[in-house]
Amino acid sequence: MTGKGKTVHGEAANAGHRVLAPDDAEVEAYLETALHAPGPQRAATDRPAGGGDGTVVVLDFGSQFAQLIARRVRELNVYSELLPHDTPMAEIERRGASAIILSGGPNSVYDVGAPKPDPAVWSGRLPVLGICYGAQLMASELGGHVQANGKREYGPATVTIGTEDGLFAGLDRTQPVWMSHGDSITTLPEGFHATAQTDSSPFAGLNDESRNLYGIQFHPEVAHTPHGKDVLRNFVVGIAGVTPSWTPAHFITATVDEIRRRVDDHARAVGSDGKVICALSGGVDSAVAAALVHRAVGDRLTCIYVDHGLMRKRESELLRATFAENLGMRLVMVDARERFLARLAGVVDPEQKRRIIGDEFIRVFEEEAEKLGQIDFLTQGTLYPDVIESATSETKTAQKIKTHHNVGGLPADLRFKLIEPLRYLFKDEVRAVGIELGLPEQMVQRQPFPGPGLAIRIIGEVTAERLDTLREADWIVIDEIKGAGLYRNVWQSFAILTPIHSVGVMGDGRTYANVVAIRAVTSDDGMTADWAKLPYEVLGKISSRIVNEVPGVNRVVYDISSKPPATIEWE
Ligand code: XMP
Repeated sequence: MTGKGKTVHGEAANAGHRVLAPDDAEVEAYLETALHAPGPQRAATDRPAGGGDGTVVVLDFGSQFAQLIARRVRELNVYSELLPHDTPMAEIERRGASAIILSGGPNSVYDVGAPKPDPAVWSGRLPVLGICYGAQLMASELGGHVQANGKREYGPATVTIGTEDGLFAGLDRTQPVWMSHGDSITTLPEGFHATAQTDSSPFAGLNDESRNLYGIQFHPEVAHTPHGKDVLRNFVVGIAGVTPSWTPAHFITATVDEIRRRVDDHARAVGSDGKVICALSGGVDSAVAAALVHRAVGDRLTCIYVDHGLMRKRESELLRATFAENLGMRLVMVDARERFLARLAGVVDPEQKRRIIGDEFIRVFEEEAEKLGQIDFLTQGTLYPDVIESATSETKTAQKIKTHHNVGGLPADLRFKLIEPLRYLFKDEVRAVGIELGLPEQMVQRQPFPGPGLAIRIIGEVTAERLDTLREADWIVIDEIKGAGLYRNVWQSFAILTPIHSVGVMGDGRTYANVVAIRAVTSDDGMTADWAKLPYEVLGKISSRIVNEVPGVNRVVYDISSKPPATIEWE
């Protein structure tokens, strides 16, 4: 991702946050690259001409589940991409599509300006599955009729399969499904047949098998449709004939080849050594991105780890052991602790802290990169949700809640070409690739950690002493959460050092010491979150250990706020 207006997330799956609002030219330029960038499996050897193994393109009509459709297809080991609803058919074919899925969406097909696909989608050249709004579009665009339903169908329903077409092959005749629609198909287009119905939808399933067009009113992508994945498999594998071969190992081979080719071509063209750098944060994304690039270019990659002193306990050791010692990568570890502390002295405002840390990080990184001579490429751990989000410009006006600093998200004016090997992957896929690459489980399964580190978990001024206090408390939280087997059940779990002092009694004496807060949340993507209902015993153990083992703390409280209205981090 390029441009100062890029979305800056990755390490923490923190979709929705950006540094600066992008201007239109940047958005256009970005869309251009997002649409035309070669995908990971687009290496020549990897894409048999004329279909067979191929991509499933999901056209996004604005459904909140559009991403989920692509993920479900990928769970079938078939590569799937989410593209804007009006992507031209020529582009869909250029991307090697073997099938098209039309997502649901909030509009009515008869609305003025309702989003529609390129009419060539209906040509029968590729099999099409319309879901909900997508099915209604199929009906209305091809001569049928759709109208508002007197009765909204929302939530669980039972469909009865009338005709067992390829889509419903092997399924029982009645299926629990999940519905969410106000409009219904009332007349089928010529050549179409009804294949399934519910009490309120006579056309809950429709097809024209001669043209390879299939529609369903229910949502197969959600967990509440238990056999939804079978329906998707029937479409992708059975009807479209795609061979499921999208696996982490396959992705690694194709991506490593692609990176090597790109770096070599560039180096030859400009007569350079083809050097690559990567900022390592300790997070999963930069780790996996670096490991992939390392496999492609070996010692031409140098990783830079800036220790800003705001890291968790033993972070630097873990990084050195993993990357330098185990994987044999070139790793520059920069001790910038004093620099950051000096700049943070006296600062209490959260946004000011974030800005200082972001700026200083870039400065240190640039200084180190400079020392390495000519660098051609910068590796970033951009993930697919970031790419999708940047391509859907409607969401770009969101009010800024926090200025995110992300270790991978360095500004484009550093003048490197970008290598973004994860730009087509979801977080869970990144983890699977990390495991396949041989990264330690401990590194791959880490909870997200924010770029500005512990500084935004110390409310008030950040000092060396307060950092030590928080680091110890944080270590105990993670230790106990792991000990209880809960580490992977929660999205994040950590300690916050509050600016509050409270009175306590230890032994026979009065204390007046720090209050530490504990935060543990469950979440799917960090955008919304609920406080984790941790067992009292675990909370009790965390509390007594912190008070006993961390000097200067005499009270522990548990944060029971969800997001919204709170955010996950306190600052
Ligand atoms: P909030 O606090 O906004 O956090 O609810 C959502 C997710 O984002 C992480 N976070 C960050 N990640 N740089 C990052 O890389 C940042 O500046 C940053 N701020 C918050 C947070 O830990 C949570 O996972």
